[in-house]
Amino acid sequence: MAGWLLSLRSFLILLCLSKFLVFLELVVANAMQPSCHDNERSALLQFKQSFIIDELASDPHAAYPKVLHWRNQEGDQGSNCCLWDGVECDEKTGRVIGLDLSSSCFHGPISSSSSLFRLVHLRRLNLADNHFNFSRIPAAIGRFSAITHLSLSLSVFSGQIPLEISYLSKLSSLDLSLNVDKPIKKSLVTQKLLQLQLSNFKSLVQNLTHLEELGLGAVDILSTVPDLSNLSSLTDLFLRDCGLSGPIPSSLGFLSKLEFLDLGLNRLNGYIPSSLQNLTRLDTLRLDSNNITGPIPSWLGNHTHLLELELKNNELIGSVPQSLSRLMNLRALSLAANNLEGTLEFDMFFSMKNLIYLYLSGNKLSLLFGKRNVNATLSKFKGLRLSTCNLIEFPDFLRYQNELELLDLSNNKIHGGIPEWMSNTSLETLLFIRLSGNFLTSFHRSSSMLPWVNLRVLDLNSNMLQGQVPLPPSSITYYDVSHNNLTGEIPLLMCNSSSLQVLDLSSNNLDGTVPQCLGGFSDSVSVLNLRRNSFHGIIPETCSPTSNLRMVDFGHNQFHGQLPRSLATCVMLEYLDLSNNKLIDVFPTWLATLHMLKLFSIRKNGFYGVIGKPEEQFELPNLRVIDLSYNNFTGELPFAYVFAMNAVKLTDNKHLSYENTTEIIDMKGKYSDIPYEYDYSITIAAKGVERNYEKILEVFAFIDFSSNKFSGEITELIGILKGLDSLNFSNNMLTGHIPPSLCNLLVLESLDLSHNKLSGGIPQQLTQLTFLESLDVSHNELTGPIPQGQQLSTFDSSSFADNPGLCGKPLANKCENPNAFLPPSSAVDYDDSESQVEFLWFFVVMGYASGLVVGVVLGSSVITKRHLGCYFN
Ligand SMILES: *[C@@H]1O[C@H](CO)[C@@H](O)[C@H](O)[C@H]1NC(C)=O
Ligand SMILES: *[C@@H]1O[C@H](CO)[C@@H](O)[C@H](O)[C@H]1NC(C)=O
Ligand SMILES: *[C@@H]1O[C@H](CO)[C@@H](O)[C@H](O)[C@H]1NC(C)=O
Ligand SMILES: *[C@@H]1O[C@H](CO)[C@@H](O)[C@H](O)[C@H]1NC(C)=O
Ligand SMILES: *[C@@H]1O[C@H](CO)[C@@H](O)[C@H](O)[C@H]1NC(C)=O
Ligand SMILES: *[C@@H]1O[C@H](CO)[C@@H](O)[C@H](O)[C@H]1NC(C)=O
Ligand SMILES: *[C@@H]1O[C@H](CO)[C@@H](O)[C@H](O)[C@H]1NC(C)=O
Ligand SMILES: *[C@@H]1O[C@H](CO)[C@@H](O)[C@H](O)[C@H]1NC(C)=O
Ligand SMILES: *[C@@H]1O[C@H](CO)[C@@H](O)[C@H](O)[C@H]1NC(C)=O
Ligand SMILES: *[C@@H]1O[C@H](CO)[C@@H](O)[C@H](O)[C@H]1NC(C)=O
Repeated sequence: MAGWLLSLRSFLILLCLSKFLVFLELVVANAMQPSCHDNERSALLQFKQSFIIDELASDPHAAYPKVLHWRNQEGDQGSNCCLWDGVECDEKTGRVIGLDLSSSCFHGPISSSSSLFRLVHLRRLNLADNHFNFSRIPAAIGRFSAITHLSLSLSVFSGQIPLEISYLSKLSSLDLSLNVDKPIKKSLVTQKLLQLQLSNFKSLVQNLTHLEELGLGAVDILSTVPDLSNLSSLTDLFLRDCGLSGPIPSSLGFLSKLEFLDLGLNRLNGYIPSSLQNLTRLDTLRLDSNNITGPIPSWLGNHTHLLELELKNNELIGSVPQSLSRLMNLRALSLAANNLEGTLEFDMFFSMKNLIYLYLSGNKLSLLFGKRNVNATLSKFKGLRLSTCNLIEFPDFLRYQNELELLDLSNNKIHGGIPEWMSNTSLETLLFIRLSGNFLTSFHRSSSMLPWVNLRVLDLNSNMLQGQVPLPPSSITYYDVSHNNLTGEIPLLMCNSSSLQVLDLSSNNLDGTVPQCLGGFSDSVSVLNLRRNSFHGIIPETCSPTSNLRMVDFGHNQFHGQLPRSLATCVMLEYLDLSNNKLIDVFPTWLATLHMLKLFSIRKNGFYGVIGKPEEQFELPNLRVIDLSYNNFTGELPFAYVFAMNAVKLTDNKHLSYENTTEIIDMKGKYSDIPYEYDYSITIAAKGVERNYEKILEVFAFIDFSSNKFSGEITELIGILKGLDSLNFSNNMLTGHIPPSLCNLLVLESLDLSHNKLSGGIPQQLTQLTFLESLDVSHNELTGPIPQGQQLSTFDSSSFADNPGLCGKPLANKCENPNAFLPPSSAVDYDDSESQVEFLWFFVVMGYASGLVVGVVLGSSVITKRHLGCYFN
């Protein structure tokens, strides 16, 4: 999420710089300079000295600390501040009238007492792209009564925009956009900092009637769009990401000089108002990422000056109007992610000779390519996204495009080979290819090396590709050929991919050993997925201390030997799945170093031995899934590890939120508005069946220790794990009673304790588990009546079978004297061993140590340790 915001930010920066900072270039030094006034020179020097120069305070591509060349030596030319870089003086009066210190690496606060406000003759002030350290915009700004151009964008100002801005009635250009938290110290949190309350916005509109450019992008306004019709000179209006709601006001139709209108990334709803027909000078119209509904109006085809029409991510319905083909100057068109439908002839786009980007993905369109497509070219074409457009073949016109950078034809119905001409298309320029979810069988290519030398993203997953793994160029960042029919080994040349972040070869027929280099690609790799192939040999050393690996899935292969100890240095690991292999090892107690771990599975291997208590104090605060099933473990159940699952303990209500584990691919600043996501998917065995989770439910928590040789008792403390969804201890040699505290697991859906040697009665409290869908206590030595009522009545006899001493429904044998068997809730005396109490304190301490609320919860369990019943929590 944070990454997404970052890329959005850089996108906005590009946009903002291109559109709003143009006037800076006009502030160039005049040939003849008058000499400057002493008081203004000292004001400038004082202003300069009030900041530290910090190269991180400005955009690295633009950063240039002009003030470093300012001098104040008597007699020297240098004392004439009118000659200083960024300073402009009036030719006649010698007063400073322009100051352009954009991207000057200023870092530090600014206030109304700043000497800047002594430059009262300023007409143009540009402080964009500095770092004013969360200062308010000083109210003294209202003193610049002559000012016509003011830019404070991208400068880390925060708080309310002062009313005094609306005193600047001569302003023709005002840009306060993108004051977001700059990641100056590698912090990834980017958030909006400035707010504009509606009453101040209205004053601004009333008073600043000369405005031609108004930029308030990423300023929180959080209201409906006020009536802007007084701003009748406006040519550029930038209100992107302002939290605006309600309809697009039809009064915008009065702003008939508008050329640039960006209302994207708000919460606007309703139709596109017909008054916008009036805006015949529009060259850019962005209404994307709102909740706008209704059809695309056909009059949009009248706006023939349009260069960019951006309507993606709305709720638009109906067909794509044919009139859009009149937009001959259009360079970018995006209608993606709406509810558009109908058949669309691609031919209509061939009239747009300057078209660079065309995005139609994510609608219900059926796109048809006519004969013109065979020989047509669009001379500047770079990007095409036609995901889910019912395509049955590759668009032929792509054959003649030699500047293509981005191609997305995913989730269509394209059969057969990738056409031969693709290997001759845009060899230098292609960065992004996504053809997943088709029926492609092969590449026609002469060498095994992919021909696009600068390719960064290749996504071919879920096709029917055969043959060897296609070899990517060394520029590759994201490589996904999963769910195909590829064979052979991982080519050693793959090791040259030094920028790789995501490698997904899962669900193919690959074999051989895994090259040792795999872990050593570089520290950039974060996802390594080799699941469901036939790889054998030992698992290579995958980690270095600086590794960024977050997911390793080597499940369902033939790996043997021991776990590489270097995995302990993968401190960023969140998912480690080694299930269904032939690994033979003892339990990896070094797991303790992996604090980010959410999932750990070694299901179906040859792990053995007693799982001891962890030697060092450890915490797995994020662990939610632990699967040790189908191994050869002996001794007591490893409760110490289970109880470290703070994450499980904390969650006691179910939110159906999905985790957004996404990898954002940096496309060198390009296409940063379309981050590419990798969704981790995992397979978990629950209720006897393996299920694939495309996205991992954030609250999904799961323990499976089944089919081992664990012995001993189930501790009553299991009741601490309140967020558990599924618990499986079946097929072991467990003895003792079923702990009544299980009734604390209020969201438990599946409980399997079958095939053990459990004795005693089934606790009455289990009837309270209202989410329980699956229960199996069969094949034990349980006795007494089966508790009746609520959830427990929904299970059939197989859930209780083969317990000679059990009686009552649903079993056939009736209980002879039900009163003889009282429910064990209070009768049974739980014999807490010393060690369990020790454990308990251990976790109480840890709960406090990590500053979590758990401590409190656990505290109360200490008090009630003997009867951790449902009535005590
Ligand atoms: C920015 O503000 C923080 C917190 O107020 C302060 O610690 C830091 O020194 C300031 N940085 C500069 C360059 O003024
Ligand atoms: C408009 O600007 C003048 C000064 O130029 C100021 O006195 C007045 O209060 C402003 N009006 C509003 C509504 O801000
Ligand atoms: C537009 O300007 C007029 C005259 O200055 C003023 O009376 C009116 O309130 C303004 N309307 C809006 C919506 O700001
Ligand atoms: C269109 O603009 C003109 C002024 O250029 C104005 O008189 C007219 O009312 C506007 N129409 C709409 C529908 O906004
Ligand atoms: C979008 O509008 C629809 C009704 O048109 C509404 O049901 C939905 O909640 C809105 N979505 C958002 C994100 O506001
Ligand atoms: C604008 O578009 C409408 C509908 O597409 C059309 O009827 C009308 O003639 C067009 N007006 C102009 C000025 O082109
Ligand atoms: C494509 O061009 C070739 C020769 O340039 C021509 O023979 C053929 O008829 C054209 N095809 C179409 C569909 O225009
Ligand atoms: C994969 O290839 C094998 C033989 O190479 C073939 O039998 C099998 O049907 C293919 N599977 C798919 C899904 O194409
Ligand atoms: C478990 O251990 C037994 C011997 O104690 C051995 O025969 C069996 O193959 C082992 N099982 C696995 C899955 O390694
Ligand atoms: C995750 O992504 C979905 C859309 O894919 C979004 O609605 C949700 O708010 C995101 N959640 C978080 C926690 O970022």
